[in-house]
Formats: sequence, structure tokens, C-alpha cells
Amino acid sequence: MRRRLVISTLVTALCGGTLAGTAVPAGAAPAAVDCRRVKCVALTFDDGPVADSRRLLGILKERNVKATFYLVGKNVQRYPTTARDAHRAGHQIGNHSWDHADLTRLTSAQVRSQLSRADTAIKQATGVKPSTLRAPYGAHNATVRQAADRPLVHWSVDTLDWRYRDSARIVKTVKEQTKPGDIVLLHDIHRTTVNAVPGIITALKARGFHFVTVDQLFAPTRLPAEKVTYHNRAAYRP
Ligand code: NI
Repeated sequence: MRRRLVISTLVTALCGGTLAGTAVPAGAAPAAVDCRRVKCVALTFDDGPVADSRRLLGILKERNVKATFYLVGKNVQRYPTTARDAHRAGHQIGNHSWDHADLTRLTSAQVRSQLSRADTAIKQATGVKPSTLRAPYGAHNATVRQAADRPLVHWSVDTLDWRYRDSARIVKTVKEQTKPGDIVLLHDIHRTTVNAVPGIITALKARGFHFVTVDQLFAPTRLPAEKVTYHNRAAYRP
């Protein structure tokens, strides 16, 4: 969860919006979606898994939507089968630290420990080591970026779902603010957020969006392990 409000000014140039008519047939494999040509959005769910994450997986499966989960290692240790099933369902799994520490307050060795412990828990549960990091609270500095040894992926649409706990408000925010290439920040640790997901999907599908994972959003380029952060596809220059 984000207890701090990070105000960031983002480059929000439209990416591919004029080609919205270039539709991919419904039910097509997400890998077939080319986000350079069609409207894409990456829904991201942070801080889980929790018990309610299963309900979210059911909603995403029913609507054939792929998302990205930034998991907290400690929670993966508690709900390993949920993490495994999220991965098996085709969702991307990212590292969100071991216990949601503010990494900017830690030494380089402590940051590496936070990330490697989470990597280990996620690898044990899913078989895959997460290739991206989302820093808790979006808080990072040179030490964190250096120790991460992988790209940091943050967001361009902040729903503030952790603050308002209001499903209708979350749907409205996403509906009004999402542009092609955006990364939407959500937290499935809140029931109000999971309750908002069907409405989010319906609203964005009506606007012609394709739901992709973070890796798919930036494909065909694989995000390099540079000491930089990514907020959306529009601001990304390969
Ligand atoms: Ni978080």
C-alpha cells in the first residue's frame, strides 16, 4: 500500500491511440497484441497475495484479462499456491520487496536482502524469478536502483484505491484517466478494489483497450536492467 502520496509529473504522450481501430480479435492470445499498434493498458495489483486474491484471479479469468502482480515476499510465503496459480494463469509476477519496507531507508546490503528474499519466495512458488521491481511506495534512490539489478516499474494512473476504498470512485478514476500505454496502480488487498475490477474491465474494453502484462506492454523490447524507472509505454524510448 502507499501511505505516501507521490506526486509525479509524467510524460503522457499518446501512443498508438490513432490506431485504435486496429483491433485484435476477441479471445486472441495476449502475446499477439502489439502495443505499438493497438491501445494497451497494464493493470497492476500490489501488496498481495492475500486470501481475496483468489477472487480477483477468478474475475480476471472470466473476463480473459492478463495483469501483473507485484507481490510481497512474506505474503507469497503465506499464500504460495495463489502466487503459483497467478503465474500459471498467464499473469506476470513482479517483486515488491520482502515485507514492504521503504527501501530508501535501507543500506545497499539490506535492499539486496529484501529483494532476494522475495525473489526466493516467488521462485519457490512459481518457478520464475521476477524480472522487474516495484519499490514499495514508489520510493527509490540511487542505492535502490543500483541494488535492484533490474528495471523498476511504477505507474502512470494512480487510483488512490488504498485511501478512498470506494469501488465506484476507483472505476471512475481509471475510466477517466487511462490513456494508451498506461500502467494502472491497484491493490488487491482491499475488497473495494477487487469489487471495482469488473467495472474497470468493462469501461476500458468499451474504449477499445487490450489488457496486457508489463512485459507485453513494452514488447518486443525486453526491459533492460538499467538503473531507471518506467511509468508507462508512452514515455519509453528504446
Ligand atoms: Ni505496495
